[in-house]
Amino acid sequence: MELEQAKITIQELRDKINEANNHYYVENAPLISDYDYDMLMNELIALEKEFPELVTEDSPTRKVGSDISDKPVQQRGSAKFAQYYHRYPMLSLGNTYNIQEIEEFAERASKSIGGVFTYSCELKFDGVAICLTYRDGVLYRALTRGDGTIGDDVTENVKHISNIPQKLSGIGWPQEFEIRGEIYMPYKAFDRLNQEREREEEQPFANPRNAASGSLKLIDPKEVGKRGLECTLYHVLGENLPFPTHDAALKSAMKWGLPVSDKRRICRNIVDIEEYIRYWDTERKLLPFATDGIVIKINELGHQRELGYTAKAPRWAVAYKFKAEQALSKVLSIDYQVGRTGAITPVANLEPAPLSGTIVKRASLHNADQMELLDIRVGDYAYVEKGGEIIPKITGIEESKRQPGTQKPVFPTVCPDCGATLVRNEDEAKWFCPNTDGCPTQIKGTLVHFLGRKAMNVIAGDATIEQFYNLGYVRNVADFYDLNAYQLLQLEGWKERSAQRFLTSLQESKETPFEHVLFALGIRYVGESTAKSIAKHFGDIDSIMKASREDLLKAPDVGEIIADSVVSWFADPKHIEIVDRLRKAGLKMKVGVADEMVSSVLADKTIVISGNFSVSRDEMKHLIEVNGGKNSGSVSSKTAFLLAGEKAGPEKLKKAADLGVQVISEEEFRAMLPSQDVKAEEAATTPAASNISIQLTLF
Ligand code: IVH
Repeated sequence: MELEQAKITIQELRDKINEANNHYYVENAPLISDYDYDMLMNELIALEKEFPELVTEDSPTRKVGSDISDKPVQQRGSAKFAQYYHRYPMLSLGNTYNIQEIEEFAERASKSIGGVFTYSCELKFDGVAICLTYRDGVLYRALTRGDGTIGDDVTENVKHISNIPQKLSGIGWPQEFEIRGEIYMPYKAFDRLNQEREREEEQPFANPRNAASGSLKLIDPKEVGKRGLECTLYHVLGENLPFPTHDAALKSAMKWGLPVSDKRRICRNIVDIEEYIRYWDTERKLLPFATDGIVIKINELGHQRELGYTAKAPRWAVAYKFKAEQALSKVLSIDYQVGRTGAITPVANLEPAPLSGTIVKRASLHNADQMELLDIRVGDYAYVEKGGEIIPKITGIEESKRQPGTQKPVFPTVCPDCGATLVRNEDEAKWFCPNTDGCPTQIKGTLVHFLGRKAMNVIAGDATIEQFYNLGYVRNVADFYDLNAYQLLQLEGWKERSAQRFLTSLQESKETPFEHVLFALGIRYVGESTAKSIAKHFGDIDSIMKASREDLLKAPDVGEIIADSVVSWFADPKHIEIVDRLRKAGLKMKVGVADEMVSSVLADKTIVISGNFSVSRDEMKHLIEVNGGKNSGSVSSKTAFLLAGEKAGPEKLKKAADLGVQVISEEEFRAMLPSQDVKAEEAATTPAASNISIQLTLF
């Protein structure tokens, strides 16, 4: 692959993964299956390996998905929590679906440890990670994983989970220690909750993991107590702990009354490990809660310390993930669904069948090629799999059960929603409805996208937006800003307070930075980071409107596909009119003062940062950019200098020393910049930043 194409593909993969992360960790409504997610991640890892110059520190390959919720308190009943730093970063686990890679893990461990050692094999619970701190035998704090560095404080909620003790029993617990584990919702509680939600006409949760995550972040701790959540703990951490092994630590934790799984097993070799995996691959189906794999850990804590961590995961543990469970069910009919971008997805309606704790009635067939490949027909029996997604997918058909006389389905040639003739671009698997601005489903999708959290961040659920559309109040995104209180009061269930809240949120959205506004417009292929890059490069909407394909290609991360898409979006007079109306409504159409260049003292300098600074790392990176520099994730001979804060990564420091790259401190760095650097000082005193430091001193 050429560098230019790799750039686009990497950006697309990162956008997809970040979006999937957000749906999974924050929205609690997964977009794609775990398997598909892992495949995207593998593709990105491989490409970054091939093009190391394209690696950035914020790549999803280098950080764990964040569950930090930055939504306003009112939205979807989830609260904004106080946030605290984790004493030890909360990392993820390397995972594989391939038993051979487990063998390789064991071989690597053997080689590097040398002597005799053991493994702890455990179930991989499918819930949300939690970190509990006990001080003097009392539950002191509970934090979610957050972004791995900072987590949401859910202590009050956790106190209402019945199997988490607020006081330890027994004797001998360390004065202070952390214990990490998973909060999950057993199938029974999940079914009960979803039945209740359906009765109340609320959207049911897609799976127990999402239900657990959503429940843990409720505003009212008493409500949390009613959700039937449970906890299992699997990792003890602290300073100078007296345990020789992971197993000994967990056994002690059990004696102190903490919930630890009794399904663990100490294995001596790969034969034992494989036997454990085989056993639980079938037996897990009888468990009353969801598991998605097996975790294999080196048991001796000394060896764990020797093996250490990568940026994202421990080297002393690995997860073997189970392939999704399957059901066999009869295909009753096939629908063709139109998505936000106009993509047509064939979906099979099935005879209801039980699968991983829920009843499946619909399953995705992805696209026309996939239908052809499966050779699926109405009346066939199909194998259905469920990952994390709401709609499971069909992975094959049972040919032996095919009845004579079945017909191949005919893929539609026109949009089932608006009747426009479907098109299919070269290199694309899906058929599309080209009627972007006239097809009701696409319009609604664009409207939802526009108000979304990463776009204009206006408080409005999909159902509300649908009502706006159905009542004819809103036909394009500019219409939102013409809505008035009288119209809003006509909406079903809306009172003055809800109308006021919506209008306030709409008003506040006018402060949204330009790059988010550009993203909100929903131009195809212009994801969050591409919008940022284009906004920064051109500075304002008028320059983007005037930009030719060639001009656009000069912007970082913009390739031909994106450039063509931007040019064609702005070539449509309807879109120009929308932009003008949004401008008149007061939306930001140029980058803010803070985003403008401050100086060019760092021009042509590629800088790598590592460690902690007096301001956040993002702020530091921003400072580099507004002074003309470029950020990079890894030290190479092209690096101008390594900007090292407190606890800078030893690997980076070593690489810099090896390559003779200069290492400078924050103080030295600031001395290089023009003196009146308002931005960084402002950042250090923003409420969010000072909040965190106050809470940190309390910890
Ligand atoms: S150990 C340093 N053990 O799976 C990481 N994790 O996909 C130590 N998980 O982040 C994690 N069951 O939230 C560990 N028995 C188990 C687990 C487990 C579930 C979760 C955990 C982790 C995620 C990785």
